[in-house]
Amino acid sequence: MRIDAVSIFPDYLDALDLSLIGRARREGIIDLRVHDLRAHTHDRHRTVDDTPYGGGAGMVMTPQPWQEALTAVLGSASEDTGPAPLLVVPGPGGAPFTQAMAHELAARPWLAFACGRYEGIDERVYEWAAERMEVRVVSLGDYVLNGGEVAVLAMVEAIGRLLPGVVGNAGSLVEESHEGGLLEYPVYTKPAVWDDRAVPEVLLGGNHAAIAAWRHEQRLARTAARRPDLLAGAATLTGTDGVEALH
Ligand code: ADE
Repeated sequence: MRIDAVSIFPDYLDALDLSLIGRARREGIIDLRVHDLRAHTHDRHRTVDDTPYGGGAGMVMTPQPWQEALTAVLGSASEDTGPAPLLVVPGPGGAPFTQAMAHELAARPWLAFACGRYEGIDERVYEWAAERMEVRVVSLGDYVLNGGEVAVLAMVEAIGRLLPGVVGNAGSLVEESHEGGLLEYPVYTKPAVWDDRAVPEVLLGGNHAAIAAWRHEQRLARTAARRPDLLAGAATLTGTDGVEALH
């Protein structure tokens, strides 16, 4: 999968060299290219922002560097990517980023992320871009970050780990929170007793059906306690999460 990210802080995205995503890049599963928006400015101060028309606090990102940066990204299309990326613009005013959206984006051959800063990007950039590619504004959650970079780190990690070969044990993708509409069950490892606390008995026996039933109950209880809003959407669950789902 090809991913481009445009930012005024390209170093922010260095963390995508680490861990599983870093390995996926080195193995060629993810072709991630980070671009400095300021490389597309032409003044001495490498200006990317200006005051908002109509007044108000803060600064707005100017359209010209974005047009040049996105034109350069479009110009790097290949046979593998298709003609244009899906452009994701992270912002608190966007559609919520969910596990379902991560799956949808992971199925695309080419994503581009445009990291806004300050009060946002001049609205005409969205119009210009939408004439050339699909554009989505996507929010990480109902809070405000200083810019899109942290959101890109989160989204690329959530999307990248769904690509075949990125996470070694595909089973761990099946069992986790938000897959199947419920939160994950609690997990335990050795020792069997620690600090006078024993691992639940059912997990110590080899009864896979009993373990699967216990885990399913735990998922329901956790979801009810922490995220009751998810339970309405979980009605389609088959109850075959946990061990059974892997066999
Ligand atoms: N940029 C600023 N706030 C954001 C948010 N909540 N999600 C995504 N990008 C953002």
